[in-house]
Amino acid sequence: MKYIEVENYAEMSKKGAALIAAEIVSKEGPVLGLATGSTPVGIYKQLIEWFNEGKLDFSGVTSVNLDEYLGLDGTNPQSYRYFMNDNLFDHINIDKSRTYVPSGIAADLAAEGEAYDKLIKSLGGIDIQLLGIGEDGHIGFNEPDECFTGATHVVDLDESTIEANARFFDSIDDVPRKAITMGMASIMQAKKVLLVANGPKKYDIIQKAFFGPITPKVPASILQLHGDLTVIYSKN
Ligand code: PGA
Repeated sequence: MKYIEVENYAEMSKKGAALIAAEIVSKEGPVLGLATGSTPVGIYKQLIEWFNEGKLDFSGVTSVNLDEYLGLDGTNPQSYRYFMNDNLFDHINIDKSRTYVPSGIAADLAAEGEAYDKLIKSLGGIDIQLLGIGEDGHIGFNEPDECFTGATHVVDLDESTIEANARFFDSIDDVPRKAITMGMASIMQAKKVLLVANGPKKYDIIQKAFFGPITPKVPASILQLHGDLTVIYSKN
């Protein structure tokens, strides 16, 4: 594991974006695993800036996202599909038909999960997976549990996750209680993993996840077993 501590969010974002840009410029048809939440927004802003400066070309890029709330379609501003369009895809030259987010409105969610895992395999896996981390240690929406789950699956969100994400909704009652998330298999099989976190609120969980025991009670701790993991933590 490469563990990098930086002073502020801007530095974290620039370093994180540089690692993603490295994949884009060095691979033909790179597959980016992307994440939502407030933490990666600075990385997306930096990638858009480099695109506008002519430094990055997304025309050959495919993306797969980690998760989606159940019950929200892509036109809902709280959906993760909408978030990705709004924060990244609408501002770069990516082919949107090759940007994938699991569907939270599929009639058969088990089939959706299976199809999502097959899709990732058919793309040849993920070149670099970007991750945030929840205060409870979740990655994607893999919440603390008795066992790590491999496949893309439906989860009940933890109360702490619902509380943390309420800031994006009008009221806490509007936060969906369930989501569909990429499981640990696709994340762990990504060729590279980049986890970013910032602020004092994330300090304890970063210590637990990367310097404590590997346990499904701290889902991100499984990443200690990944062969090419970079963690960038910004104190402020
Ligand atoms: P945040 O969310 O970036 O908004 O803190 C991270 C996460 O829950 O994975």
